[in-house]
Amino acid sequence: MKKKIAIILAMFLFGIFGVFSQNSTTEITIKSREESPIINKNIYGHFAEHLGRCIYDGFFVGDTSKIANTNGVRNDIIEALKALKIPNLRWPGGCFADTYHWKDGIGPREDRPTIVNQWWGGVTEDNSFGTHDFLNMCELLGAEPYLSGNVGSGTVQELADWVQYTNFSGKSPMSDLRKKNGREKPWHVKYWGIGNEAWGCGGNMTADYYADVYRKYTTFLSGDIERIASGASSDDYNWTETLMKNIPNRMLGGLALHHYSVIDWNNKGDAVDFSEDQYFKTMTEALKMEELVTKHAAIMDKYDPDKKIDLVVDEWGGWYDVQKDTNPGFLYQQNTMRDAVLAGATLNIFNNHADRVRMANLAQCVNVLQAVILTDKAKMILTPTYYVMQMYSVHQDAKLLPVKFDSPLYELNGKTLPAISVSASKDSNGLTHISLVNIDANKENKIEIDLNELGIKNATGTILTSKKLQDYNSFDNPTKIHPIDYKGFGIKKGKLIITVPPFSVVMIEGK
Ligand code: AHR
Repeated sequence: MKKKIAIILAMFLFGIFGVFSQNSTTEITIKSREESPIINKNIYGHFAEHLGRCIYDGFFVGDTSKIANTNGVRNDIIEALKALKIPNLRWPGGCFADTYHWKDGIGPREDRPTIVNQWWGGVTEDNSFGTHDFLNMCELLGAEPYLSGNVGSGTVQELADWVQYTNFSGKSPMSDLRKKNGREKPWHVKYWGIGNEAWGCGGNMTADYYADVYRKYTTFLSGDIERIASGASSDDYNWTETLMKNIPNRMLGGLALHHYSVIDWNNKGDAVDFSEDQYFKTMTEALKMEELVTKHAAIMDKYDPDKKIDLVVDEWGGWYDVQKDTNPGFLYQQNTMRDAVLAGATLNIFNNHADRVRMANLAQCVNVLQAVILTDKAKMILTPTYYVMQMYSVHQDAKLLPVKFDSPLYELNGKTLPAISVSASKDSNGLTHISLVNIDANKENKIEIDLNELGIKNATGTILTSKKLQDYNSFDNPTKIHPIDYKGFGIKKGKLIITVPPFSVVMIEGK
């Protein structure tokens, strides 16, 4: 009798628990469409500026360092970025680019002049890492270089010379100089930024003025290269409109866009010690990317209906207060599960806009802002953002599968955000990948995906999550957060039913 009562009680409690713990299920439709775009691998690009410890004491330790290196570049960083399938790397800035004179960074190191890095800490730049170092490093990484030219304080001739130095295979003053400096064959650099943030640190220009400057510069840059105009800051749609109107399409390979997820430029908050309210605000800024790319792309569509010109989001990521006791000009910050969620949701946005967004660069690669790699002397750690980029690398050059769903809401203090972010693709081996992010800091979400149209019979899963949103990998505990197998899903009657835990990033591979 006692046993019977216990069973009835257990069934009753299970029933109540089931009702209260289970959220309603979100149905996601994923279509397989012939006309869908390819997700350009360059969406998974990175950015390395002469800023703080990104290049010096980051990538570059010099060839006399005890840290294992190839021509002065850390081997552990090279290996980590190769494992990420890094498709491209933007250099040397950022704001630094418009103060950089490339000829200072070639030839014997002992003869190179110094300059003051006026934007980042006022430190002395000795130019020991220059054009050859960067382009040879890109070859080691298997990444396409993306060079940002100096428009703000440089000259047309200087930038034209740089293109000739790196790309010209015939005989010319610049190719002769390159050969004299030890490089016979050109590197064939395809991507060239014509200045950076021309509306700000790149020269405080108006859009009209910059459009003319851009036209002049690109006239003298020869060869088969992609010229990328310095683009808008966040929602400055007038900038995009003016450039698209005033620059002939044939002169424009790409148009940039910068957007950082910052709570408040005067009070950015700590990178690790943050509240749920601050998390919510960061995610509000991050999810704005959807509106930004939609609206900038719509303006581009007016002038370029065939979508020939790339939208290049060449700076994005989370920006917080610098870590205590570090140089305020060096922008060093830790990286938590908040950053993993931010990266996963942003990359889903880029994937879903693959018809126009064809390149993006996370700011920045090593030791600066939302870095994928942090170093401390000989130690190196991979951040939660690194692992998201690694999990998502399966989307590179795969065919986008458009997704349709009504997201459940994540509510906090009377405000709401969509809780779920998704993108999907099919690669050339026929594997389908679905990346899901649950932005909700507290509630798990149950999702149902109809697999019939995708022809998926079996699936495996990987998840990145942790106990606390504020968790991070430290030099003492470097693998606290890393992807693990995920089994919280099943396939039933042609449907994938998956539970996505709070603040987690999940990748499903189906075949
Ligand atoms: O990424 C840091 C800085 O942010 C870049 O130098 C600049 O382009 C932007 O304002």
